[in-house]
Amino acid sequence: MSPERFAGKVVVVTGAGHGIGRASADRFSDEGAEEVVVVDVNADWANETAQLIGDRGCRAHPVVADVADEQAVESVRRELTARHGRVDILHNNAGRLRSSSITDLSAEEWDLTFAVNVRSMFLVCRALIPLMRPAGGAIVNTASSSGLVGEAATPAYNASKAAIINLTRQLAADYSRERIRVNCVCPGWVPTGFNDPVLSHMSDAEVADMVTAMVPIGRQATPAEIAAAVAFLASDDASYIAGHALVVDGGLTAVR
Ligand SMILES: NC(=O)c1ccc[n+]([C@@H]2O[C@H](COP(=O)([O-])OP(=O)(O)OC[C@H]3O[C@@H](n4cnc5c(N)ncnc54)[C@H](O)[C@@H]3O)[C@@H](O)[C@H]2O)c1
Repeated sequence: MSPERFAGKVVVVTGAGHGIGRASADRFSDEGAEEVVVVDVNADWANETAQLIGDRGCRAHPVVADVADEQAVESVRRELTARHGRVDILHNNAGRLRSSSITDLSAEEWDLTFAVNVRSMFLVCRALIPLMRPAGGAIVNTASSSGLVGEAATPAYNASKAAIINLTRQLAADYSRERIRVNCVCPGWVPTGFNDPVLSHMSDAEVADMVTAMVPIGRQATPAEIAAAVAFLASDDASYIAGHALVVDGGLTAVR
């Protein structure tokens, strides 16, 4: 039986239709959230996550929105204002990854990566922090171990994830005194399909061998293992943690 750390909380998770976001939405609902708002650009996936949570007898509400789009985020804000009038926990998680050397990278792809990974966090925080202010709350951003070290062939992704880590610190500087704690998680390898654009030349067995060699724990994380760290940072168990980048990478960046 999970502790009810999120009883009575309104939780918003972006990119909650699949992978880490779905696991996080699942975890918040499992720990008693009043409602998890499942935001995703993919309507089928958003509905699937909400259905899975609903089937367990918990409350989830799907919202289809591209979180890189200002008008779409504004309509999420309006919907949440009308529906609850408040937000207690926000997990900014939607992301985009494409592989390219910088000399082959188009300006459009650079901008799109920063739009989905960083601009989205600006837009969503700008829209929802006013709904968190009266009661306080917690924001957890999904950064990446890729934001901590340089990696081959992902210049836009690497730079965008580093930006998320420092945006997290900046927001902690501004909002901790208003009882809104802001932190981020830095996952390593998680087999959600998200990394397919950089792994398309490798078989599953080759990926497994590579990860075993690179990662001291010797395997990829499950989405649930990342969600556990997100839930910790969002909970009162982390009541004195702000502006922190929690690395959940099986030791990957500890040994590089
Ligand atoms: N999988 C990994 O190995 C890994 C490692 C480190 C960090 N991350 C980060 O974790 C986050 C989630 O990745 P994942 O592995 O769960 O990927 P995923 O592809 O399984 O899920 C991403 C979800 O985000 C949604 N999404 C994408 N763009 C969106 C947009 N503009 N607006 C709203 N929703 C959008 C997708 O539809 C999808 O449901 C990303 O920020 C990613 O950078 C993943």
